[in-house]
Amino acid sequence: MPILALVAALSASIAAAQEQTGLPELTAQQDHALMMRALGIASLRPGANGLDPDAPNAANYDESKANPYPGLPDPLVTDDGDPVTTPEQWWQVRRPEIVEHFDREVYGRVPDDVPAVSWEVVETVEEEVGGVPAVTKRLLGHVDNVRCPEISVDIQLSLTTPADAEGPVPVILEFGFGGFGPRPGGPPRRGPGPPRGGPPWREQVLDRGWGFAVVVPVSIQADDGSGLTRGIIGLCNEGRPRDPDDWGALRAWAWGASRALDYFEADPAVDADRVGIEGLSRYGKAALVAMAYDPRFAVGFIGSSGAGGAKPFRRTFGELVENLASSGEYHWMAGNFLKYAGPLTPGDLPVDSHELIALCAPRPVFVSYGASTGPGAEGQWVDQRGSFMAAVAAGPVYELLGARGLGTAEFPEVGTALVDGELTWRQHEGGHTTGPNWPTFLDFAARRITDGPPPDPEGP
Ligand code: GCU
Repeated sequence: MPILALVAALSASIAAAQEQTGLPELTAQQDHALMMRALGIASLRPGANGLDPDAPNAANYDESKANPYPGLPDPLVTDDGDPVTTPEQWWQVRRPEIVEHFDREVYGRVPDDVPAVSWEVVETVEEEVGGVPAVTKRLLGHVDNVRCPEISVDIQLSLTTPADAEGPVPVILEFGFGGFGPRPGGPPRRGPGPPRGGPPWREQVLDRGWGFAVVVPVSIQADDGSGLTRGIIGLCNEGRPRDPDDWGALRAWAWGASRALDYFEADPAVDADRVGIEGLSRYGKAALVAMAYDPRFAVGFIGSSGAGGAKPFRRTFGELVENLASSGEYHWMAGNFLKYAGPLTPGDLPVDSHELIALCAPRPVFVSYGASTGPGAEGQWVDQRGSFMAAVAAGPVYELLGARGLGTAEFPEVGTALVDGELTWRQHEGGHTTGPNWPTFLDFAARRITDGPPPDPEGP
């Protein structure tokens, strides 16, 4: 069906649905088509096919074809072309420019008037986790929905701290797959598995005397385009579809993590100056966005984030901008991002992923991947090498702010931990998980955020 006819039909069905329920119900395809119309785009280029190497649009894994746009935007040159040579210029001029580009074109804007969240502890349980006595609180973050009572948002969060802690403890917050965090007393729900032969991450964290927390992203915003008129994004829009620069799910999930951090600031069990954020895959992207946008996160553990995370948009390798712009994934991004898979190209983006990493500077960030080849590897869809290149390209911003980047531009062997700087890299031998990198991450985090005075978000 031509797009205009489709949109006309959609507008009629939205009006009909609104009459019945007061709120439109759209499929992801319908919402995606509406966004294309709002942008004046008739068609998008197809994404890469990662499953069939014989497909005409098979994902590229040939390094010689991977860099059609070799020049990354310079994070240390302003939009007017002025070199950025002082931390003041970074904080006052360049960083806000980069944030504006990401807001408008890539991840979307968080509205100024997002309603308040009130946290309720719904259950407190004393339990043992890996033999360590602990206290688990299960919480709901109720979002004030007076402006659109048909939409309720209750953020699910669980927080576990050692029972015998003598004071507030550092906490690692994970974007959790599955339901309401770990079940007290029971086995943990789905999530990054334990490193081979080692204890689960939650036990490793508790063993250090720290706490762990799990926020449930889909309780903030659905992981589906059909959910964009619901969740926190829909609530702010009173059930209407998004404008092209409205936030997508990645920013919504990151916003929810920041609200969890608000709660931690009010809970005497937590040392809120020492809270880390971790996630894998789509939640690795969200962890990087959370870390970039909220300077209160002291350290980030960015697991296999790939396209939309640490992987440069400009790289033609594995997953592409065109995949992110498709109806299956566009909800992670701002609507404006679709343009770069239609009339524009990834080379037209005003920013790239190295600048998202740079927004975290000078705070410590651990970029984690599995192996690209070999038994049990995660494959190359996530573009480990490109993500490494982005981390290298973020290095000058770390250095400008008195911190250290990766310290090398040479792609290291799997298992090599580049942990001397604030920006850190390690590929583990396993697959699509953060599991085997937890011990290295926790050693790194201890050195950076707990073995000294509280970290200063503006400098080490
Ligand atoms: C797909 C998608 C990735 C994403 C991953 C996930 O592979 O292409 O971008 O990270 O799903 O499970 O989150």
